Amino acid sequence: MKKKIALIFGITGQDGSYLTEFLLSKNYFVYGVKRRTSLIHTTRIDHIYQDRHSKPNLILKYGDVTDFSNVFKIINDTKPNEIYNLAAQSNVGVSFELAEYTAQTDSIGTLRILEALRILDKKKKIKFYQASTSEIFGNSPDKPYNEKSRFAPVSPYGTAKLYSYWITKNYREAYSMYAANGILFNHESPRRGENFISRKTIIALVKILKGKQKTLYLGNLHSKRDWGHAKEFVEAQWKILQQKKADDFVIATGKNYSVKDLVNLVLKKLNIKFLWKKDKKGLEYAVALSNVEKIKKSQVIVKQDQSYFRPNEVHDLVGDYSKAKKKLGWKPNINFDQLITEMIQSEIKNY
Ligand code: NAP
Ligand code: GDD
Repeated sequence: MKKKIALIFGITGQDGSYLTEFLLSKNYFVYGVKRRTSLIHTTRIDHIYQDRHSKPNLILKYGDVTDFSNVFKIINDTKPNEIYNLAAQSNVGVSFELAEYTAQTDSIGTLRILEALRILDKKKKIKFYQASTSEIFGNSPDKPYNEKSRFAPVSPYGTAKLYSYWITKNYREAYSMYAANGILFNHESPRRGENFISRKTIIALVKILKGKQKTLYLGNLHSKRDWGHAKEFVEAQWKILQQKKADDFVIATGKNYSVKDLVNLVLKKLNIKFLWKKDKKGLEYAVALSNVEKIKKSQVIVKQDQSYFRPNEVHDLVGDYSKAKKKLGWKPNINFDQLITEMIQSEIKNY
């Protein structure tokens, strides 16, 4: 039987690597788009990448969603059955610094792929997946968020991603294209980018335990997120494209925790005894209550730092994935505690 061909924009990222593993296990031929960088950073997929001159089932191509002619040529050359657009400047905090670039990548990048598809795929056979996000709900009052909730993004990232959500829906309706949004809530893993809260916290606290860092500096401790495991969430991405009719789905766990809950859990799992206090400015910090490994009693191990607060914040995200459960047969199986445990174990092993 002829292999199905998938094309992944954003293959070098967290989700790209898990999705590639998943699609290869389903016997797909995978093309991935990687950016030209001064140092090669394909570390998340090196273990699955095979020499293209032997018997390849994964081929990487240089590309960038900010370059229309490149996007057009890659789609024309690879002739995929399915396209997954995971490419994005995905850091919400950074999007306040790089607002225009974030829009170029996270909004117009999606439009470029859709336009190339509209021109090239006259028979409307290629299925398109857009990596949408719970950030499009922002601080909307309709919690827990589902496919019918109102949108109220509060960052350049969330706003750029909302454009992509709508343009994907618009192209589906206007041109009868198979174009679907997966509205995914936060998902983490040992492969998570190092400047997202889960990975940043775990890396730093393991280093602090080993005496390689003194203090972990963080911003808002009171926002809440619905955290799942990336490995399970990429399976939902694939399931979304296996539906007869293109549709949009919320993918979440339905449970949420605060950033402080996350920090407390990591400290507890590393056997660090601690107490939270407040300084004169109201900034919170945690001190060690006893010596453990290289940590000394009274050492400030975690501290809030004004520079990590965002100009605007999404306070409380929690998703309702009942449509995905009913129509895709998808549900999360890995809970928050198991996710954090796996990430800690992996960090200690790396260390
Ligand atoms: P990630 O680790 O940051 O990966 C993003 C990928 O996009 C990387 O491969 C990156 O390449 C690539 N990329 C960035 N700018 C690009 C450009 N201009 N052209 C081509 N490729 C570009 O993100 P992730 O966590 O895997 O998330 C995947 C997607 O889902 C993103 O679109 C993200 O916004 C969205 N999302 C993520 C979550 C989550 O919690 N993880 C939740 C909802 C939605 P480099 O490796 O070269 O940087
Ligand atoms: N990154 C980071 N660094 N976040 C911090 C810090 C810090 O030092 N201190 C506190 N936080 C808080 C943020 O303010 C936010 O409320 C929360 O921790 C989670 O931040 P991130 O892990 O950066 O994730 P995010 O929720 O902003 O965005 C992620 O999830 C979205 C889906 O809801 C990203 O993966 C997005 O790409 C994704 O769309």
